[in-house]
Amino acid sequence: MRYSKIAGIGHHVPETIITNDYLSTIMDTNDAWITERTGIKERRWINPDKDTVANMAAKASRMALQRAGLTEKDVEFIVFATITSDYYFPGSGVLLQRELGLEGIGALDIKNACSGFIYALSIADQFIKTGMYKTILVVGAEIQSSALDVSDRGRNTAVIFGDGAGAVILRPSDQPGILSTHLHADGRFAEELYVKDPGGSRPNKERQPEQFLDTSGFKVHMNGNQVFKHAVVRFMEVINEALAANNMAKENIDLLVPHQANLRISQYIQEKLSLRDDQVYNNIMRYGNTTAASIPIAMSEAWAEGKIKENDVICLAAFGSGFTWASALIRW
Ligand code: COA
Repeated sequence: MRYSKIAGIGHHVPETIITNDYLSTIMDTNDAWITERTGIKERRWINPDKDTVANMAAKASRMALQRAGLTEKDVEFIVFATITSDYYFPGSGVLLQRELGLEGIGALDIKNACSGFIYALSIADQFIKTGMYKTILVVGAEIQSSALDVSDRGRNTAVIFGDGAGAVILRPSDQPGILSTHLHADGRFAEELYVKDPGGSRPNKERQPEQFLDTSGFKVHMNGNQVFKHAVVRFMEVINEALAANNMAKENIDLLVPHQANLRISQYIQEKLSLRDDQVYNNIMRYGNTTAASIPIAMSEAWAEGKIKENDVICLAAFGSGFTWASALIRW
Protein backbone atom coordinates (compact mmCIF):
# COMPACT_ATOMS: atom_id res chain seq x y z
CA MET A 1 0.00 0.00 0.00
CA ARG A 2 1.25 3.45 -0.90
CA TYR A 3 0.80 6.19 1.69
CA SER A 4 1.76 9.84 1.77
CA LYS A 5 3.98 11.30 4.45
CA ILE A 6 4.93 14.83 5.42
CA ALA A 7 8.62 15.02 4.53
CA GLY A 8 9.19 18.65 5.53
CA ILE A 9 7.36 21.62 6.98
CA GLY A 10 8.06 25.35 7.05
CA HIS A 11 6.51 28.72 7.71
CA HIS A 12 7.02 32.44 7.30
CA VAL A 13 5.39 35.39 9.06
CA PRO A 14 5.90 39.09 8.28
CA GLU A 15 8.17 41.10 10.58
CA THR A 16 5.70 43.75 11.75
CA ILE A 17 4.10 42.90 15.09
CA ILE A 18 0.72 44.52 15.74
CA THR A 19 -0.10 44.44 19.44
CA ASN A 20 -3.53 44.80 20.99
CA ASP A 21 -2.35 48.08 22.48
CA TYR A 22 -1.51 49.38 19.01
CA LEU A 23 -4.98 48.41 17.73
CA SER A 24 -6.54 50.32 20.61
CA THR A 25 -4.87 53.49 19.27
CA ILE A 26 -6.66 53.17 15.90
CA MET A 27 -10.07 51.76 16.91
CA ASP A 28 -12.28 51.52 19.96
CA THR A 29 -10.92 48.32 21.50
CA ASN A 30 -8.56 47.29 24.29
CA ASP A 31 -6.14 44.54 25.26
CA ALA A 32 -8.38 43.17 28.02
CA TRP A 33 -11.39 42.65 25.67
CA ILE A 34 -9.32 41.01 22.93
CA THR A 35 -7.38 38.78 25.34
CA GLU A 36 -10.46 37.66 27.24
CA ARG A 37 -12.59 36.89 24.13
CA THR A 38 -9.93 35.50 21.78
CA GLY A 39 -6.64 34.88 23.63
CA ILE A 40 -4.81 36.94 20.98
CA LYS A 41 -2.05 39.27 22.22
CA GLU A 42 -0.47 40.20 18.89
CA ARG A 43 -0.56 39.39 15.17
CA ARG A 44 1.66 40.08 12.14
CA TRP A 45 0.74 42.47 9.34
CA ILE A 46 2.61 42.63 6.06
CA ASN A 47 4.67 45.48 4.71
CA PRO A 48 2.72 46.19 1.46
CA ASP A 49 5.95 47.40 -0.23
CA LYS A 50 7.62 44.00 -0.03
CA ASP A 51 5.33 41.20 1.15
CA THR A 52 2.90 39.29 -1.07
CA VAL A 53 0.96 36.09 -0.47
CA ALA A 54 3.11 34.36 -3.09
CA ASN A 55 6.48 35.50 -1.76
CA MET A 56 5.59 34.64 1.83
CA ALA A 57 4.48 31.24 0.55
CA ALA A 58 7.79 30.84 -1.30
CA LYS A 59 9.73 31.49 1.92
CA ALA A 60 7.65 28.92 3.82
CA SER A 61 8.05 26.45 0.92
CA ARG A 62 11.83 26.81 0.82
CA MET A 63 12.02 26.13 4.54
CA ALA A 64 9.86 23.01 4.10
CA LEU A 65 11.98 21.81 1.16
CA GLN A 66 15.22 22.38 3.03
CA ARG A 67 13.92 20.47 6.07
CA ALA A 68 12.88 17.64 3.72
CA GLY A 69 16.34 17.57 2.17
CA LEU A 70 14.87 18.49 -1.23
CA THR A 71 15.12 21.41 -3.65
CA GLU A 72 12.57 23.38 -5.68
CA LYS A 73 13.23 21.19 -8.72
CA ASP A 74 11.85 18.14 -6.89
CA VAL A 75 8.35 19.65 -6.64
CA GLU A 76 5.93 18.11 -9.18
CA PHE A 77 2.65 19.79 -8.20
CA ILE A 78 1.41 22.66 -6.03
CA VAL A 79 -1.82 22.83 -4.03
CA PHE A 80 -2.31 26.32 -2.63
CA ALA A 81 -4.98 27.18 -0.04
CA THR A 82 -5.84 30.86 0.37
CA ILE A 83 -8.82 33.20 0.40
CA THR A 84 -6.62 36.26 -0.08
CA SER A 85 -4.69 35.60 -3.28
CA ASP A 86 -2.58 38.47 -4.59
CA TYR A 87 -4.86 38.87 -7.61
CA TYR A 88 -8.59 38.24 -7.93
CA PHE A 89 -7.38 35.88 -10.65
CA PRO A 90 -5.17 34.06 -11.48
CA GLY A 91 -4.81 32.27 -8.18
CA SER A 92 -1.78 32.09 -5.94
CA GLY A 93 -0.63 28.64 -7.11
CA VAL A 94 0.75 29.98 -10.38
CA LEU A 95 2.39 32.95 -8.65
CA LEU A 96 4.15 30.63 -6.23
CA GLN A 97 5.17 28.39 -9.10
CA ARG A 98 6.75 31.45 -10.78
CA GLU A 99 8.48 32.50 -7.53
CA LEU A 100 10.03 29.04 -7.24
CA GLY A 101 11.04 28.90 -10.92
CA LEU A 102 8.93 25.81 -11.63
CA GLU A 103 7.37 26.74 -14.97
CA GLY A 104 5.25 23.93 -16.38
CA ILE A 105 4.16 22.04 -13.26
CA GLY A 106 0.49 22.07 -12.28
CA ALA A 107 -0.80 24.47 -9.63
CA LEU A 108 -4.21 24.20 -7.98
CA ASP A 109 -5.93 26.82 -5.81
CA ILE A 110 -8.25 25.96 -2.91
CA LYS A 111 -10.63 28.57 -1.47
CA ASN A 112 -12.03 26.84 1.59
CA ALA A 113 -10.99 29.48 4.11
CA CYS A 114 -9.96 28.15 7.53
CA SER A 115 -10.45 24.53 6.41
CA GLY A 116 -8.49 25.21 3.23
CA PHE A 117 -5.20 23.70 4.34
CA ILE A 118 -6.79 20.37 5.32
CA TYR A 119 -8.76 20.29 2.05
CA ALA A 120 -5.47 20.95 0.20
CA LEU A 121 -3.65 18.25 2.17
CA SER A 122 -6.44 15.77 1.42
CA ILE A 123 -6.23 16.43 -2.33
CA ALA A 124 -2.45 16.07 -2.32
CA ASP A 125 -2.80 12.85 -0.31
CA GLN A 126 -5.03 11.35 -3.04
CA PHE A 127 -2.56 12.29 -5.80
CA ILE A 128 0.32 10.67 -3.91
CA LYS A 129 -1.67 7.50 -3.09
CA THR A 130 -2.69 7.01 -6.72
CA GLY A 131 0.92 7.44 -7.82
CA MET A 132 0.20 10.50 -9.96
CA TYR A 133 2.91 12.58 -8.23
CA LYS A 134 5.81 11.87 -5.88
CA THR A 135 6.49 15.33 -4.45
CA ILE A 136 3.69 17.80 -3.79
CA LEU A 137 4.00 21.21 -2.19
CA VAL A 138 0.94 22.03 -0.07
CA VAL A 139 0.65 25.64 1.06
CA GLY A 140 -1.64 27.82 3.15
CA ALA A 141 -0.91 31.57 3.02
CA GLU A 142 -2.92 34.69 3.72
CA ILE A 143 -2.73 38.46 3.81
CA GLN A 144 -5.77 39.48 5.84
CA SER A 145 -4.52 42.86 6.99
CA SER A 146 -5.19 44.64 3.68
CA ALA A 147 -8.90 43.69 3.79
CA LEU A 148 -9.62 44.45 7.45
CA ASP A 149 -11.93 47.29 8.38
CA VAL A 150 -9.82 49.02 11.03
CA SER A 151 -12.50 51.57 11.88
CA ASP A 152 -14.64 50.98 14.99
CA ARG A 153 -17.23 49.32 12.73
CA GLY A 154 -14.85 46.48 11.89
CA ARG A 155 -13.43 45.91 15.37
CA ASN A 156 -15.07 42.48 15.85
CA THR A 157 -13.01 41.08 12.96
CA ALA A 158 -10.01 43.41 12.67
CA VAL A 159 -8.64 42.25 16.03
CA ILE A 160 -8.84 38.55 15.12
CA PHE A 161 -7.12 38.08 11.76
CA GLY A 162 -3.42 38.12 10.85
CA ASP A 163 -0.98 37.43 8.00
CA GLY A 164 1.40 34.51 7.39
CA ALA A 165 2.27 31.40 5.40
CA GLY A 166 2.95 27.72 6.03
CA ALA A 167 3.92 24.84 3.75
CA VAL A 168 4.43 21.08 3.79
CA ILE A 169 6.07 18.67 1.37
CA LEU A 170 4.16 15.45 0.80
CA ARG A 171 6.03 12.36 -0.43
CA PRO A 172 5.11 8.68 -0.87
CA SER A 173 5.95 6.09 1.77
CA ASP A 174 5.20 2.42 2.36
CA GLN A 175 4.49 3.30 6.00
CA PRO A 176 1.41 5.31 7.00
CA GLY A 177 1.74 8.94 7.14
CA ILE A 178 -1.61 10.52 6.51
CA LEU A 179 -4.06 8.03 7.98
CA SER A 180 -7.28 9.71 6.91
CA THR A 181 -8.83 13.05 6.04
CA HIS A 182 -12.44 14.14 6.55
CA LEU A 183 -13.99 17.06 4.67
CA HIS A 184 -17.36 18.73 5.27
CA ALA A 185 -19.34 21.80 4.28
CA ASP A 186 -22.72 23.41 4.87
CA GLY A 187 -23.36 26.28 2.47
CA ARG A 188 -26.56 27.29 4.24
CA PHE A 189 -24.30 29.34 6.50
CA ALA A 190 -22.22 31.01 3.77
CA GLU A 191 -23.15 34.54 4.81
CA GLU A 192 -22.25 34.06 8.50
CA LEU A 193 -18.59 34.69 7.66
CA TYR A 194 -17.89 36.11 4.23
CA VAL A 195 -16.55 38.82 1.99
CA LYS A 196 -19.21 39.84 -0.51
CA ASP A 197 -17.08 41.78 -2.99
CA PRO A 198 -15.51 41.41 -5.46
CA GLY A 199 -18.18 38.91 -6.42
CA GLY A 200 -20.39 38.25 -9.42
CA SER A 201 -23.72 38.39 -7.57
CA ARG A 202 -24.59 42.08 -7.96
CA PRO A 203 -27.83 43.02 -9.76
CA ASN A 204 -27.09 43.88 -13.40
CA LYS A 205 -27.89 47.55 -12.97
CA GLU A 206 -25.02 47.82 -10.54
CA ARG A 207 -22.58 45.84 -12.58
CA GLN A 208 -20.66 48.73 -14.04
CA PRO A 209 -16.98 48.20 -14.80
CA GLU A 210 -15.85 50.92 -12.41
CA GLN A 211 -17.86 49.34 -9.59
CA PHE A 212 -16.48 45.94 -10.31
CA LEU A 213 -13.01 47.35 -9.90
CA ASP A 214 -13.98 49.23 -6.74
CA THR A 215 -12.94 46.94 -3.91
CA SER A 216 -14.13 49.25 -1.13
CA GLY A 217 -16.73 46.57 -0.29
CA PHE A 218 -13.97 44.02 0.21
CA LYS A 219 -14.42 43.73 3.95
CA VAL A 220 -14.94 40.72 6.18
CA HIS A 221 -18.42 40.28 7.61
CA MET A 222 -18.68 37.86 10.53
CA ASN A 223 -21.53 36.87 12.80
CA GLY A 224 -19.18 35.94 15.65
CA ASN A 225 -21.74 34.29 17.93
CA GLN A 226 -23.02 31.97 15.19
CA VAL A 227 -19.50 31.08 14.12
CA PHE A 228 -18.52 30.26 17.70
CA LYS A 229 -21.60 28.09 18.33
CA HIS A 230 -21.14 26.02 15.17
CA ALA A 231 -17.35 25.82 15.52
CA VAL A 232 -17.37 24.12 18.90
CA VAL A 233 -19.81 21.45 17.69
CA ARG A 234 -18.16 20.77 14.33
CA PHE A 235 -14.61 20.68 15.74
CA MET A 236 -15.64 17.95 18.17
CA GLU A 237 -17.55 15.98 15.52
CA VAL A 238 -14.77 15.98 12.98
CA ILE A 239 -12.06 15.06 15.49
CA ASN A 240 -14.18 12.15 16.75
CA GLU A 241 -14.84 11.12 13.14
CA ALA A 242 -11.09 10.93 12.45
CA LEU A 243 -10.46 8.89 15.61
CA ALA A 244 -13.33 6.47 14.87
CA ALA A 245 -12.16 5.97 11.27
CA ASN A 246 -8.81 4.77 12.60
CA ASN A 247 -10.08 2.81 15.61
CA MET A 248 -8.35 5.23 17.92
CA ALA A 249 -9.37 7.02 21.09
CA LYS A 250 -8.55 10.54 22.21
CA GLU A 251 -5.75 9.06 24.37
CA ASN A 252 -3.97 8.11 21.14
CA ILE A 253 -3.56 11.74 20.11
CA ASP A 254 0.00 12.89 20.78
CA LEU A 255 -0.68 16.40 19.51
CA LEU A 256 -3.85 18.14 18.40
CA VAL A 257 -3.12 21.09 16.12
CA PRO A 258 -6.43 22.91 15.78
CA HIS A 259 -6.96 25.73 13.30
CA GLN A 260 -6.14 28.82 15.35
CA ALA A 261 -9.60 30.42 15.23
CA ASN A 262 -9.90 31.58 18.80
CA LEU A 263 -8.11 30.36 21.94
CA ARG A 264 -11.48 29.92 23.66
CA ILE A 265 -12.57 27.45 20.97
CA SER A 266 -9.31 25.46 21.36
CA GLN A 267 -9.71 25.44 25.14
CA TYR A 268 -13.29 24.24 24.84
CA ILE A 269 -12.22 21.33 22.61
CA GLN A 270 -9.33 20.49 24.91
CA GLU A 271 -11.65 20.36 27.90
CA LYS A 272 -14.33 18.31 26.11
CA LEU A 273 -11.73 15.79 24.97
CA SER A 274 -9.94 15.88 28.38
CA LEU A 275 -6.61 16.50 26.66
CA ARG A 276 -3.57 17.62 28.65
CA ASP A 277 -1.93 20.97 27.84
CA ASP A 278 0.97 19.21 26.14
CA GLN A 279 -1.48 17.45 23.78
CA VAL A 280 -2.78 20.69 22.22
CA TYR A 281 -0.69 23.24 20.33
CA ASN A 282 -1.75 26.90 20.25
CA ASN A 283 0.08 29.92 18.89
CA ILE A 284 -2.88 32.20 18.23
CA MET A 285 -1.58 34.45 21.02
CA ARG A 286 1.25 35.53 18.70
CA TYR A 287 -0.30 35.40 15.23
CA GLY A 288 -4.07 35.76 15.53
CA ASN A 289 -6.19 33.79 13.08
CA THR A 290 -4.28 33.36 9.81
CA THR A 291 -7.06 31.32 8.13
CA ALA A 292 -5.57 28.71 5.74
CA ALA A 293 -2.05 29.41 7.02
CA SER A 294 -2.76 28.76 10.68
CA ILE A 295 -2.42 24.97 10.77
CA PRO A 296 0.85 24.70 8.79
CA ILE A 297 2.38 27.61 10.78
CA ALA A 298 1.39 25.92 14.04
CA MET A 299 2.64 22.50 12.88
CA SER A 300 5.93 24.00 11.73
CA GLU A 301 6.50 25.73 15.07
CA ALA A 302 5.46 22.65 17.05
CA TRP A 303 7.88 20.52 15.00
CA ALA A 304 10.73 23.03 15.49
CA GLU A 305 10.06 23.05 19.25
CA GLY A 306 10.39 19.25 19.35
CA LYS A 307 6.68 18.74 20.11
CA ILE A 308 6.18 16.52 17.04
CA LYS A 309 8.33 13.41 16.95
CA GLU A 310 8.69 10.41 14.66
CA ASN A 311 5.70 8.05 14.93
CA ASP A 312 3.54 10.55 16.87
CA VAL A 313 -0.18 10.68 16.09
CA ILE A 314 -1.06 14.23 15.05
CA CYS A 315 -4.64 15.38 14.70
CA LEU A 316 -5.44 18.44 12.59
CA ALA A 317 -8.90 19.99 12.76
CA ALA A 318 -10.45 23.12 11.30
CA PHE A 319 -13.69 25.03 11.03
CA GLY A 320 -14.51 28.24 9.21
CA SER A 321 -16.25 30.19 6.48
CA GLY A 322 -18.62 28.18 4.31
CA PHE A 323 -19.25 26.78 6.81
CA THR A 324 -16.56 24.21 6.11
CA TRP A 325 -14.88 21.90 8.59
CA ALA A 326 -12.29 19.17 8.24
CA SER A 327 -9.81 16.94 10.04
CA ALA A 328 -6.76 14.84 9.29
CA LEU A 329 -5.11 12.14 11.37
CA ILE A 330 -1.41 11.73 10.69
CA ARG A 331 1.24 9.25 11.84
CA TRP A 332 4.37 11.44 11.71
N1 COA B 1 -13.14 45.53 21.26
C1 COA B 1 -14.02 45.92 22.20
N2 COA B 1 -15.34 45.64 22.15
C2 COA B 1 -15.77 44.93 21.09
C3 COA B 1 -14.91 44.49 20.07
C4 COA B 1 -13.56 44.82 20.19
N3 COA B 1 -12.63 44.45 19.27
N4 COA B 1 -15.62 43.82 19.17
C5 COA B 1 -16.90 43.81 19.59
N5 COA B 1 -17.00 44.49 20.76
C6 COA B 1 -18.18 44.74 21.58
C7 COA B 1 -19.47 44.65 20.80
O1 COA B 1 -19.73 45.86 20.15
C8 COA B 1 -20.45 44.34 21.89
O2 COA B 1 -20.75 45.52 22.56
P1 COA B 1 -22.26 45.79 23.12
O3 COA B 1 -22.51 44.68 24.10
O4 COA B 1 -22.16 47.14 23.72
O5 COA B 1 -23.15 45.68 21.91
C9 COA B 1 -19.67 43.47 22.85
O6 COA B 1 -18.28 43.71 22.56
C10 COA B 1 -19.96 42.00 22.71
O7 COA B 1 -19.94 41.69 21.31
P2 COA B 1 -20.17 40.24 20.81
O8 COA B 1 -19.98 40.24 19.31
O9 COA B 1 -21.45 39.69 21.36
O10 COA B 1 -18.94 39.54 21.50
P3 COA B 1 -18.65 38.02 21.70
O11 COA B 1 -18.58 37.75 23.12
O12 COA B 1 -19.51 37.16 20.82
O13 COA B 1 -17.18 37.94 21.11
C11 COA B 1 -16.01 37.24 19.15
C12 COA B 1 -16.93 38.27 19.76
C13 COA B 1 -15.82 37.62 17.70
C14 COA B 1 -14.68 37.28 19.86
C15 COA B 1 -16.66 35.85 19.30
O14 COA B 1 -17.98 35.88 18.83
C16 COA B 1 -15.91 34.81 18.59
O15 COA B 1 -14.79 34.50 18.93
N6 COA B 1 -16.52 34.16 17.59
C17 COA B 1 -15.85 33.18 16.78
C18 COA B 1 -15.01 33.90 15.82
C19 COA B 1 -14.10 33.01 15.08
O16 COA B 1 -13.58 32.06 15.60
N7 COA B 1 -13.91 33.34 13.82
C20 COA B 1 -13.03 32.66 12.99
C21 COA B 1 -13.64 31.39 12.53
S1 COA B 1 -12.52 30.55 11.57
